[in-house]
This record gives sequence, C-alpha cells and structure tokens, in this order.
Amino acid sequence: MRVQTLGQFIIEKQNDFPYAKGELSRLLRDIGIAAKIVNREVNKAGLVEILGETGEVNVQGEQVKKLDIFANDQFIAALKVGGEVCAIASEENEDIIPIDNEVSKNAKYVIAMDPLDGSSNIDVNVSVGTIFSIYRRVSLSGPGTMEDFMQRGTEQVAAGYIIYGSSCMLVYTTGKGVNGFTLDPSIGEFCLSNPNIKTPETGLIYSLNEGNHLHFPDGVKKYVKYCQEEDVATNRPYSSRYIGSGVADIHRNLLKGGIYIYPTTTKSPKGKLRLLYECNPLAFIIEQAGGKATDGKGRIMEKNMKELHQRTPLFIGSTQMVEKAMEFMLKFEAVS
Ligand code: AHG
Ligand code: MN
Ligand code: MN
Repeated sequence: MRVQTLGQFIIEKQNDFPYAKGELSRLLRDIGIAAKIVNREVNKAGLVEILGETGEVNVQGEQVKKLDIFANDQFIAALKVGGEVCAIASEENEDIIPIDNEVSKNAKYVIAMDPLDGSSNIDVNVSVGTIFSIYRRVSLSGPGTMEDFMQRGTEQVAAGYIIYGSSCMLVYTTGKGVNGFTLDPSIGEFCLSNPNIKTPETGLIYSLNEGNHLHFPDGVKKYVKYCQEEDVATNRPYSSRYIGSGVADIHRNLLKGGIYIYPTTTKSPKGKLRLLYECNPLAFIIEQAGGKATDGKGRIMEKNMKELHQRTPLFIGSTQMVEKAMEFMLKFEAVS
C-alpha cells in the first residue's frame, strides 16, 4: 500500500476548502512541524530534565522549561513564522497574542490551542496531547482581536489534536470527515494511518473522574450507576477508563466507542474544561466522526462565547451513549 504523508494528503485535499486553500494547508503543515518538535522533547523528557518546574536550571546550565511552557513556545513560534494566523489564544496565556509581523499581514485565520493537555501526566510517561481550533478572522485587518475568538464552535474551519503517546498521532478535520496520521519516526513524517475515522454509535467504555462522584449532578450519578448495572442486552456493566489526559481518553473512545464526561462539580460549578480550545475542537472532531458533544443539555458547538477561558461541562462520544446520559441529566435536573 502506498504511504501517504500529511503533506501529500493536505495538498490532495486542499481543493475541498471553500476558502483560502493554500493558506489553510500551510497552517496545518506548520502545526505538523511544531508537533514533531514537541514530540521530540516529550520522547526525551526523562533524559534532559525538561520536567522541572519553570525557573530551574538543567545540567547544561540552561533554563529549564516545563513541558507545557515548552509546547506553548514552540507552537507560538511556528505559527508566528508561518504567517497564516493573525492572532493566537492559548491556555497558557491570559490574553490573546495578536500577531503584528510582516509575514502575517495578510493572515486570514486565528488559532486557539491547548498546547499541552494532560499536564498531570507529564512527569509519569503517560500520553499527553495538544488541541487546536482554527477560525476565519472576522476583524478586518491588522493583528487579530478578541472578536475573532468570540465565534461559536460551528464557525470552526479546522480542528485537531496531537497525541504524544506510545506513538505520536495527529488527528484533524476540516469539516469533511476526520483523518488520523501516525508519525513514522524513521522518516520523520506523519503518515495517513486512520482515514475517514467513524466512531461507533455506541460503546462499552465510560470515562470520568469518579473521585468527584459526591460532587456530580444527580443526573451524572444516576448515569454512572446505569453504566455499572448488569444488563445482557446492552452489554452492561461498561468498563471504566480514565487516564486524566482528555485527548487520550477521547481518542481511545473515538476509535473504540465510549463516552467521556467532565460534568459540573461543586468545586467547578461551570465545569473544568475550556470551551474555546478544548471542548469546541474535540466536539468538531467527534461530530465529524458521527458522534455527539453536548454540555449535558445542548450542543457544545452552538454555545455562545463570552470570555476567552470560559469553562463548560462536556459530554462527548458515541451518539447513543451521550443521548442516554442526557436523558438522565434531563430527568434529574430538578434535583441537581
Ligand atoms: P490540562 O492538562 O490542559 O489542564 O487539561 C486537563 C484536563 C483534561 O485533559 C483531563 O481529562 C482533565 O482535565 C483531568 O482533570 P481531573 O484531574 O480533574 O480529572
Ligand atoms: Mn487541557
Ligand atoms: Mn493544557
């Protein structure tokens, strides 16, 4: 079988883009390059003491950067020189980063990202990821502004994630299905490994932090109980799988079928995950793969953006499982 690299695939598909084809292709290529550099650091993390807290000095006497800051810097640098975005929003930066350089003056896009998802797993050799979401700018010219990021998830032109796991994968959508690429380290290229990913209608896995059980809304408590009950017809009890890296949990469920929930808790009454650079891009991918993403009541991608780091509850995965969880949410709404 012919191996197709990410670069070849993007060029072949660029006629699918209704708008600014070349630019979006180049932007995706820039993301692929930054991902390879971050992957290289993730792979040697244990060796070069990159795991220390920011501010420490490593054996070479260099300033040590924590991996999430390294990933953030790397993506920002690649996106700035790439010239295809006029502003960046990142989990690691309180405000947007408007880009005001010569190469970016005609940039048509903005990008929002979670440079390192699963930070609690950095030091322990468990998969982490990067999530990104791309919008067409709505501001007219110059560096991008806040209004460029205040668009609904339905306006995304592309979204994706990278998993730095047992292999490194890049999964993305431009609204025409979802494709997955695995990094072949011997040639240093992402190669198409999972074309046109479709998620199963239902699955046997539920993923949420059950340590928070006491603080879940009643609908979630009842749904978890439902997952644990014996029922031959629906193959219950389901298996519980939760790594703590949303990207890895959601990627596994995307391929195998399952549901991932991060509900409101008493500690995080609005939920923990961020709408702009975690939930919307993951929702776009899941929907493009035939799954569903809601906040327990309505579609994630139709939520209004009010602030950059806005949080939301997230119910995401196989359609039938998300719908079942929402039934419980509706039924027990009054008491939660
Ligand atoms: P981040 O590392 O970017 O802060 O995101 C972590 C997110 C998500 O990826 C993960 O599923 C969840 O937070 C884990 O949170 P808990 O430790 O509260 O379960
Ligand atoms: Mn995250
Ligand atoms: Mn993060």
